[in-house]
Amino acid sequence: MNIVKLGMRDLPLFEGANLLRAVRELAGLSVTTPFREWAPLARICLTLIPRYTMVLPRRLLSLRHLVEDLETRGISGDIVECGSWNGGSAALMGLYGSRKVWVFDSFEGLPEPGENDGEWERKHYFKGWSQGDPAKVREAFRKLGVPTERFEIVKGWFDRTLPGAPIRSISLLHVDADWYESVKTVLETLYAKVERGGFVVLDDYGRFEGCRKAFDEFNRAREGGRLSLVKVDSSAYYFRRP
Ligand SMILES: C[S@@+](CC[C@H](N)C(=O)[O-])C[C@H]1O[C@@H](n2cnc3c(N)ncnc32)[C@H](O)[C@@H]1O
Repeated sequence: MNIVKLGMRDLPLFEGANLLRAVRELAGLSVTTPFREWAPLARICLTLIPRYTMVLPRRLLSLRHLVEDLETRGISGDIVECGSWNGGSAALMGLYGSRKVWVFDSFEGLPEPGENDGEWERKHYFKGWSQGDPAKVREAFRKLGVPTERFEIVKGWFDRTLPGAPIRSISLLHVDADWYESVKTVLETLYAKVERGGFVVLDDYGRFEGCRKAFDEFNRAREGGRLSLVKVDSSAYYFRRP
């Protein structure tokens, strides 16, 4: 077993590394972000990372800005997260908005990467990696002071849970599901409900081949390639629905 696989099997090791990355990123952000914005961000990040989220500070800050933009522009619709693990990124979006947050996850971890995912992913990841826990999701929301009536946890595989979910409209769709089939299912099932002016965030577009392929195919087939992505960091990208 190589060192990468060992780190992935041993979640505390992976979480420790994430905490170090987060502290390094926060130090970098302290130079470029006004202190009044940086200080609460640092506090929230250190509450959520590594126990409740794998999403690093720059991406959390971007999610905050997107939610605030929706509030300012008065774009209606719920926030939907597909791929929540222990709920940290979902709780942060709940904190900065006033709308309902849907938390979709198998809570059985990732499915096996498939033929449309990258070779590296197929070699190093395995079914069940990053298994979240609904109790920790509730804890994450509680820690940020978001009341229970503002969020709903839906447990199960996306192809079963998303089609029948009673969501009327979506202002922000956070797709954090790593693999081709998962991302494809989310986009094909939920994009139609995203409001014009609403956001779709692809947490893994820059990182995982399958996520990139699923979005690029969807963009060509559904919108003739006109959806243009904004880069957050080396992994996450987003677009506003035209
Ligand atoms: C990288 S984690 C999400 C990280 C999370 N947003 C955070 O704040 O740390 C990816 C999650 O997607 C879930 N997932 C991936 N594909 C899925 C599918 N087809 N159905 C349900 N859950 C899925 C996994 O269970 C896993 O918890």
